[in-house]
Amino acid sequence: MTDEPRRHETYTHGHAPATVRQHGQRTAEEAAAFLLPELRAGMRVLDVGCGPGSITRGLAERVAPGEVIGLDLSRETLAAARRDAAARGLVNLQYQEGSVYELPFPDASFDVAYAHQVLQHLRERGAALREMLRVVRPGGLVAVRDVDWGTAAYWPRDPWLDRFIDVHLRTWSQNGGEPLMGRQLRTLFNAAGIADLKISATVWCYATPGETSEWGESYADRLLTSPMGQLPIEHGHASRADIEAMAAAFRAWAAHPDAFWVFTHVAALGRKVG
Ligand SMILES: C[S@@+](CC[C@H](N)C(=O)[O-])C[C@H]1O[C@@H](n2cnc3c(N)ncnc32)[C@H](O)[C@@H]1O
Repeated sequence: MTDEPRRHETYTHGHAPATVRQHGQRTAEEAAAFLLPELRAGMRVLDVGCGPGSITRGLAERVAPGEVIGLDLSRETLAAARRDAAARGLVNLQYQEGSVYELPFPDASFDVAYAHQVLQHLRERGAALREMLRVVRPGGLVAVRDVDWGTAAYWPRDPWLDRFIDVHLRTWSQNGGEPLMGRQLRTLFNAAGIADLKISATVWCYATPGETSEWGESYADRLLTSPMGQLPIEHGHASRADIEAMAAAFRAWAAHPDAFWVFTHVAALGRKVG
């Protein structure tokens, strides 16, 4: 198995250290807040596209002694997640390499299938959701959360940050992903026939020096070191000099005392019809 998703997808963000480090700061308390009230000790949970596993381990702590499996395409990211789980002594947490399109599990083998910030990167989002449903038992839960980049608002304005948002969204769509995934989750879940659907939304807001520095510096690093900066050049949307100007704009914004960033994240929670 390689790092490449099935059907020739190229994961837009890649697995550069700057990207994985930022994902590794996420927690189950925030990223799975819409799901946590439903979790019970002993449940078996699948975290699809788990990345570095910081959310996955929070799920494992909630359902222990129930088993949690984190699945991802990235062997390297999973190796780090396994080391983290071992260091924390989490014996009910396993990581497995695989694709959401062909989950290596029998039908109806989980109580919950969860995916955080994953469907937005997939070309065949309906097929991915149906595969998640397949491995959930009748009456079990499917829980998904995705950003909606069309809701991004920031201050103070900078023409290079405006340009970044435009180029990033165009590259992402061209790459097969859906930057406006958040607003479409209800459609996706309805099309899959998922019952008892609950849609909710929360925002990520960066408005302290620590938050704006973390977000802006991370995006500057990601532009310079990950496919986020390379793909726009390959697609002819930007030059290397443009990408460097966008990264510099992110660093300047990150240090600005008035800096503010907000965007909406949509969560969908529903049950497999029993
Ligand atoms: C934005 S990261 C989210 C990671 C984690 N869920 C989080 O929120 O921190 C998306 C993850 O989906 C994984 N991914 C992309 N395509 C996938 C596929 N077809 N099957 C499984 N995982 C996939 C990537 O390797 C990456 O780790």
